[in-house]
Amino acid sequence: MRRSAPLDDEFGMLVNRLRKNRRHLGKWARRAGIEAYRLYDSDVPGYAAAIDLYRDHAHLQEYAAPAHVDPETAERRRGELPRAVELALEIPPDRIAFKVRRRQRGRSQYEKQGAAARTLLVREGECVFEVDLDSYLDTGLFLDHRPTRTAIGERAAGKRFLNLFCYTATATVHAARGGAASSTSVDLSRTYLDWAARNLAANDVDPERHRLVQADVLGWLEQPPTETWDLIFVDPPTFSNSKRMERSFDVLRDHVELLSRAAERLAPGGEIVFSNNHRRFRMEADAMPHLEIRDVTRSTIPKDFERNPRIHGCWRLRRRTDDGEPSIR
Ligand SMILES: C[S@@+](CC[C@H](N)C(=O)[O-])C[C@H]1O[C@@H](n2cnc3c(N)ncnc32)[C@H](O)[C@@H]1O
Repeated sequence: MRRSAPLDDEFGMLVNRLRKNRRHLGKWARRAGIEAYRLYDSDVPGYAAAIDLYRDHAHLQEYAAPAHVDPETAERRRGELPRAVELALEIPPDRIAFKVRRRQRGRSQYEKQGAAARTLLVREGECVFEVDLDSYLDTGLFLDHRPTRTAIGERAAGKRFLNLFCYTATATVHAARGGAASSTSVDLSRTYLDWAARNLAANDVDPERHRLVQADVLGWLEQPPTETWDLIFVDPPTFSNSKRMERSFDVLRDHVELLSRAAERLAPGGEIVFSNNHRRFRMEADAMPHLEIRDVTRSTIPKDFERNPRIHGCWRLRRRTDDGEPSIR
């Protein structure tokens, strides 16, 4: 596609911003060995969208326009977004996935969208992950949690790792590649566990030592503990409900129970890494006096999400009863 007119209008600002961001972030991503990153997040007023690059593909999520924008303008901008990606990044339309993202609760986010699946493998440091740009709103890889996955990989050597709400088990892959002795990854969804198995296989992770378990995490944690883990990652959804669960899960309401039960599975000196994407999450630390809790959110926001540092929160937790153990560093 060609456009010869000077790019000094609203559309031109968008094109210029995409080019500038790619120059800047592209260099950083190459150095870091990252093939999937957020290129754009509503940087230009009027174009409320997130644009992520997955290798030579773009994944574009448009946020619903605010009510004060007239429908015609909203419609025009919607059409301009993929055109700007094509023009600025030289990505042809057949490599651009386009979705509209609205606030939603519950499972709909994880249900199939219906389009034909476009899957590809993308590199993240030492690991590769399968992503699907079409079938669901999410692609199989939460880009904002990249530093947390890296940190888990760096701290996993020789440890037993537990991944709760593992989704496609990307954190497990980092742990295994980082030398974890063994791991258990729990998720409710067969679809995501199958995907997790493919991610383990793509990274030569031994499925005997790295187990995938299909279960409701809350129900699973209610069973008397028979095993302990040195490092536990808990990344729950904001809200979840399913026929397979005895009751719904709400991260605001249920995190104290979730974290207290997870802490019962910690080996002496062990640590929980907890994250979630609720924008108004408040940690009820007073209700968990037995846990030492440190907010590490700032160190877990990657460069490509700096313009949106409230994308997630992240905490590290240890049991206070571990007398003599070093406190969280
Ligand atoms: C990792 S969480 C999503 C986290 C992400 N930070 C977000 O807010 O979208 C999504 C995963 O949780 C799983 N899940 C939801 N409720 C669950 C439950 N009660 N037990 C186990 N897995 C559950 C889903 O199947 C999905 O793979």
